[in-house]
Amino acid sequence: MFKSKPKSKSKLSAPAASSEVVLALTKLNKVFNPNTELENHVLHDISLQVKRGDLVALVGTSGSGKSTLLNIMGLLDVASSGELHIDGQLTQGLPELARTQLRSESIGFVFQFHHLISAFSVLDNVLMPLMLRHGKPSAEQKAYARYLLAEVGLADYMQQPTNRLSGGQQQRVAIARALVTRPALILADEPTGNLDTQTADEVFHLFERFNQEHDCAIVIVTHDPRLSARCPRTIRLTDGRILYDGHSNQHPQE
Ligand SMILES: Nc1ncnc2c1ncn2[C@@H]1O[C@H](COP(=O)(O)OP(=O)(O)OP(=O)(O)O)[C@@H](O)[C@H]1O
Ligand SMILES: [Mg+2]
Repeated sequence: MFKSKPKSKSKLSAPAASSEVVLALTKLNKVFNPNTELENHVLHDISLQVKRGDLVALVGTSGSGKSTLLNIMGLLDVASSGELHIDGQLTQGLPELARTQLRSESIGFVFQFHHLISAFSVLDNVLMPLMLRHGKPSAEQKAYARYLLAEVGLADYMQQPTNRLSGGQQQRVAIARALVTRPALILADEPTGNLDTQTADEVFHLFERFNQEHDCAIVIVTHDPRLSARCPRTIRLTDGRILYDGHSNQHPQE
């Protein structure tokens, strides 16, 4: 029943924002500590597009720049040069408030360590992004949060504090929290990195399901070749450069 509900109308950008391309990077570079002894050019001329419905694995060896790239995509960090469009909107030059608003309306994050607030109930953790945006969530928003928690198999845990949950359950809460704003884009940095194989499979299945049912784009960093093979598209970073961007089934494994 929730699937057919209209998306939030309060997007910053025009209706064209919901056009197919959710994320567009053009010749993006990142240099940490520029013009110092510690200068580190981490991302080199990254150009790529992600569309609604895409499920993309971002892979590469440790230190290749995956988290740096994901943080820039998610407006948690800024590029040194190049362009980044999110949901049709050019992000360079946006005032901080507008960046924060675009981030909270268009992007959901899932991290390896889920960053739940242990003193709060499961339901309140899921409602948190809405509370940060609007204060008190509406009845419809609360109903949607409950629906998501039921969908991730936690209907019976809504009032529990999160520190009573297992690692896999906590990651399910984090996924529901990422989805509660109905974002066009989900960015996940090693969301299963901390889980055993079976739990990782189950959590990954949730990403697959929500990708299809909610038609959101998902970029997922993973070191697990079994999981990247389940994403239709793989992007491989090597020393901060894209060396492969295409079908996962044609991706040459290392
Ligand atoms: N805040 C920072 N300041 C300076 N250098 C940084 C910073 N963050 C990352 N780096 C450097 O950027 C490079 C890429 O790091 P990044 O965390 O993006 O790699 P990664 O591919 O996510 O690795 P992993 O698989 O281990 O998580 C590394 O050389 C790292 O030391
Ligand atoms: Mg990383």
